[in-house]
Amino acid sequence: MTAHAPEKIFLSDYTPPNWLIEDVGLNFHLSPTATRVTSTIRFVPNPAAASRDFFLHGEQLKLISASIDGTSVSPKVTEQGLTCDVPDHAFTWVAEVEINPEANTSLSGLYMSGGMYCTQCEAEGFRRITFYPDRPDVMAPFKVRIEGSDPVLLSNGNPTASGEGWAEWNDPWPKPAYLFALVAGDLIARDDTFTTMSGKNVDLKLWVRPGDEGKTAFGMDALKAAMAWDERTYGREYDLDIFQIVAVSDFNMGAMENKGLNIFNTSAVLASSDTSTDANFERIEAIIAHEYFHNWTGNRITCRDWFQLSLKEGLTVYRDQQFSADFRSASVRRIEDVISLRGRQFREDNGPLAHQVQPDSFVEINNFYTATIYEKGAELIGMMKTLVGHDEYYKALDLYFTRHDGEAATIEDWVRVFEDSTGRDLTQFRRWYKQAGTPRLTVTDDFKDGIYTLNFEQKTLPTPGQEEKLPQHIPIAVGLLGANGDEVLATQILEMTEDKQSFTFEGLTSKPTPSILRHFSAPVILDRDSTPEERAFLLTHDTDAFNKWEAGRALAKDVLISMITGRSAPTQDYLGAITAMLRDDRLDPAFRALAIRLPGQDDLAQTLADGGVTPDPLAIYQAHQTLRQQMAEHLQDLLPRLSAEMDVADAYKPDAEQAGKRALGLELLMLANRLDGGAAATAQYARADNMTLRMGALGCLLEAGKGDEELADFRARFEGDALVMDKWFAMQVAHAAPEKAAEIASTLTQDSDFNWKNPNRFRAVFGALMMNQAGFHDETGKGYALFADWLIKLDPVNAQITARMSSGFETWKRWDADRQALMQAALKRIMATENLSRDTQEMVGRILN
Ligand code: ARG
Ligand code: ZN
Repeated sequence: MTAHAPEKIFLSDYTPPNWLIEDVGLNFHLSPTATRVTSTIRFVPNPAAASRDFFLHGEQLKLISASIDGTSVSPKVTEQGLTCDVPDHAFTWVAEVEINPEANTSLSGLYMSGGMYCTQCEAEGFRRITFYPDRPDVMAPFKVRIEGSDPVLLSNGNPTASGEGWAEWNDPWPKPAYLFALVAGDLIARDDTFTTMSGKNVDLKLWVRPGDEGKTAFGMDALKAAMAWDERTYGREYDLDIFQIVAVSDFNMGAMENKGLNIFNTSAVLASSDTSTDANFERIEAIIAHEYFHNWTGNRITCRDWFQLSLKEGLTVYRDQQFSADFRSASVRRIEDVISLRGRQFREDNGPLAHQVQPDSFVEINNFYTATIYEKGAELIGMMKTLVGHDEYYKALDLYFTRHDGEAATIEDWVRVFEDSTGRDLTQFRRWYKQAGTPRLTVTDDFKDGIYTLNFEQKTLPTPGQEEKLPQHIPIAVGLLGANGDEVLATQILEMTEDKQSFTFEGLTSKPTPSILRHFSAPVILDRDSTPEERAFLLTHDTDAFNKWEAGRALAKDVLISMITGRSAPTQDYLGAITAMLRDDRLDPAFRALAIRLPGQDDLAQTLADGGVTPDPLAIYQAHQTLRQQMAEHLQDLLPRLSAEMDVADAYKPDAEQAGKRALGLELLMLANRLDGGAAATAQYARADNMTLRMGALGCLLEAGKGDEELADFRARFEGDALVMDKWFAMQVAHAAPEKAAEIASTLTQDSDFNWKNPNRFRAVFGALMMNQAGFHDETGKGYALFADWLIKLDPVNAQITARMSSGFETWKRWDADRQALMQAALKRIMATENLSRDTQEMVGRILN
């Protein structure tokens, strides 16, 4: 057990930096075990600061020498950094340090991945490279010189000079240290160019390891599309002569928006039809856009401190969601985004890890790169847009960019821009940033004398550290449908601001059917007593695609929850409605695919728990199985014709149209698989000429307890391809029968290809184990024990990933007493580990609370 709890940092303690920086020069002399970094930094006193005390962050650095204005000094060095006596006027600081990239397994700072040097500095990795005020409100232009034996030497900004064994880069845009990047290695680039809206030429380079060149075309196209979209939509132009992306195999997150030099997890950029699924393509396109969009929302305007993280992340997620919606079906994208929001953010917001979009305190900032900061943050932007309207939104954004360009801004600055630009009072809306937890909205209705009334009540349950909750300002998009299915009231935005509020609609001849929270207009849980008939009616008639889907999902949930709790289930209503929906070929196949996918098992567990029923993971699993079987039998006659319609004859394209057909085709295959003993899946695997169909078929076979031959074939085909091998690992665990999941995962950890220090591989196995809800929660506790063993093993190597993945235990209080005890024991065992990282201590501590 560690001696004392790690120290907390508070937003309220913010003070401006004592010293600002005019410019920075960095000189790297690369060596895997002993890289030398010389920094030359011009410090100037900050007029806004009260003190001239001098502190530089620095961790795991060997200080070789330091000087001020040419005179050598002897600073006092601790584990966190150094202090030094300095003049009370501007001065030049020069320091040389030595670091060991090869020994850096945390993948934060400068480290090695497969023989290449790369960096990850967000949030606080730069302090592992040199001594520096490593806080985002200190911004400076950087000049970098790299000396090393690798053929490719890259850093931020524009290239200025290079020769055999060295290269120099100049980034003229002042930036915080977290946006610094360096890459060196044996790499090859896909080259392209982009002409900006003012006619400037930008060189584009997508760097990969030799052998991966064939997987760069899609990423490059996505980049160009993102650049053009940001000009078109937000009027934002790129601002350097070159924009580069580098693919790296060992990376903690998806990607990083370093100025002019984005670094990507290979999984977030490399794409080919043989090795990537349609979902991979979609994710890659979104992440490339996301990182590119950060150039304005994140880099040109950055965050004053890490409590403002959602300022850049919420907004940038919102922007990448808009981008994807424009390039693919907007409603399908919205449904997918909401599925992910509910699955990750609602889960977080309704458990021990719930926190504000703008937290008040943290121990380790890396633990706050969460679905709440990102996805809920994006929902808040979306709500603001709904409240002020399209034109006012873009007007406000223009003001944001002009007012704060070049600054390290706050969430308060952002909200004030909206108030100043639109004249709206957003006092209550600010609460969304400061109040954790998902509001629950209950609604009833009545109809009298031609007046229809909707009565809403909102309630947010207490979250850790926040007992009292106040009413939120909620935009509720509502439409009304008449008895024949026609819309009698087009979408209107109701603004709810009170605990309880009613809205009336006049001039109606009969009681309408309401379609509430269209397009999911606010991140709330909507509770409404409804009948299977009404749900089926909305599934058929709603003109809002999101609510049409939502109606089908609600009906499926009613069926599953009834099955699990032993009540009579409206199965026939569901099967009838779903059959009609599937037959409706005016509907986008992608939509139909989402509409027949059952609500996830985690979602069902949460719903049961919310309703006061202790969920049984096995019963949930079995209800899924039963309903799928009934669907398969009910749809038996329709399946062959519909499946044939989903065949794509043209050459593979990862576009929305083809992907939608394949998605529906795979949903149908999963059903057919229950009736034909795996025949169709076996055939599909054999003839598959792309990864989507191949993996889909293999998944079906594994689900049926078959597919040994195909699994071996899959490995033989892709043995050398790490990203595909991640799939090979993940699939076996994801599709394992509940009682076998832990053993299969355990066996896979013994595999010669289980490179557990690689985050993608670790996540492949253990991410999949957590997704296999009934498997992870096997009553023996073997899933928990295995997972805890591996978290304990990983913590000293990569605390960030360990802490992040420990959230697999966040639902522990939801389950029965036996499972709770087992999970709690696993958590306590982790907590009792000697020298447990701050990261993991904070997370496990909060989970146990
Ligand atoms: N800013 C990056 C993004 O949103 C995420 C990097 C976070 N990295 C970390 N170690 N916390 O794309
Ligand atoms: Zn981001």
